[in-house]
Amino acid sequence: MHIGQIGLLSFRSIKILNFEPDANLNFITGANNAGKTSLLESVYVCSTSKSFKNIDLDNLIDYSSQSSKISVKCSDNTINDIIIYEKTLKSPKKVLINQKKSSIKDTMLKLPVIALNFGNQNIFTQKSEVRRSLLDWGVFHVKQDYHNLLKQFNRILVSRNKVLKTRDLDQISLWTDRFIESAQIIHSHRQEYFDQFNAAFINILNNTPDLASILYNDILKTKIAYKKGWTGSLEDSLTRSLNKDIACGFTSSGPHRADFAASTDKGKVCDLASMSTQVVLNFCITLAQSDAFHVKHNHKPVLLIDDLFFGIDDKNLGVVIKLLNESELQCFLTAPDSLINRITGLKIKPKGSYYQMKNGELMGNKV
Ligand SMILES: Nc1ncnc2c1ncn2[C@@H]1O[C@H](COP(=O)(O)OP(=O)(O)O)[C@@H](O)[C@H]1O
Ligand SMILES: [Mg+2]
Repeated sequence: MHIGQIGLLSFRSIKILNFEPDANLNFITGANNAGKTSLLESVYVCSTSKSFKNIDLDNLIDYSSQSSKISVKCSDNTINDIIIYEKTLKSPKKVLINQKKSSIKDTMLKLPVIALNFGNQNIFTQKSEVRRSLLDWGVFHVKQDYHNLLKQFNRILVSRNKVLKTRDLDQISLWTDRFIESAQIIHSHRQEYFDQFNAAFINILNNTPDLASILYNDILKTKIAYKKGWTGSLEDSLTRSLNKDIACGFTSSGPHRADFAASTDKGKVCDLASMSTQVVLNFCITLAQSDAFHVKHNHKPVLLIDDLFFGIDDKNLGVVIKLLNESELQCFLTAPDSLINRITGLKIKPKGSYYQMKNGELMGNKV
């Protein structure tokens, strides 16, 4: 998958932009407030009709305009498509693929993107919900009616929680049976995806040529494990917790509690690892997500990385560049201008181009 062209009109601080990105790495540098994150955000919005920073869609329209437009030309190496997202203040969004009105599911499938942004939180420190949605993203791209299965599961969970509060044992038993049936389906999809994703993660750390010699040891020793959301059989687990669940009015075990954890022989990554180790591991998790996607689709999603380089040293920066070069992903990365000096000082040279953003305009020259 790669993007051939991005066109923007009145999107956040970007008045107008026409960008033909590199098929590999696109380093977008610039001062604070230059509009770097906005450019990445536009790609994410075009795919998902959502902001990766949870900004309301109306607030993504340039303050001095009534509407904004994003157009993205993309190709999965065989088919070329044009996706258009348009939003007018206080009106519903419009999404078109090749001029035909489309659903968000369609745009997500046409333009799969993964966004990584690093603030104080990362995949290991955030709530389990974030890791579950990573698994669910992977399953969705393999099994396209998975969103409906998840919705159905959530409805059953809500109903079971309601009847727990009524203490009506017959009703509880009825909803418990439905809950188990739906839970097993969700779990088996997640487990199958996790196995592929984990194999990709292990492969990245162990089989990327010459990587082991430049990795910090704690990164190399990290393993990830899936937790389905209960122990033993689900039926036994629900029976064991029934009195507690009735008292709380809530089902305490099931796929809504699923998670995955990263740890080394010393303990959990979220408790022990330095921030830079967590950043690099987050990055490896994302590459594994993209590799698992590639196995199924024969192309890779577009990767958006906002401020990745915050706080990582040159050794880890070299690891990231090496992995990105090997991955052959099309990737958009934002960073301060000073990053160019750091990257050009590394032994390894990135496959891609540098662009500089100033006041919402992208300086076209590749540096
Ligand atoms: N809806 C909007 N209309 C106009 N400007 C906006 C809007 N939303 C955010 N901005 C401004 O856009 C500028 C660029 O933000 P951002 O893309 O996050 O910059 P960077 O990532 O380069 O630091 C900021 O100054 C911000 O205040
Ligand atoms: Mg930014």
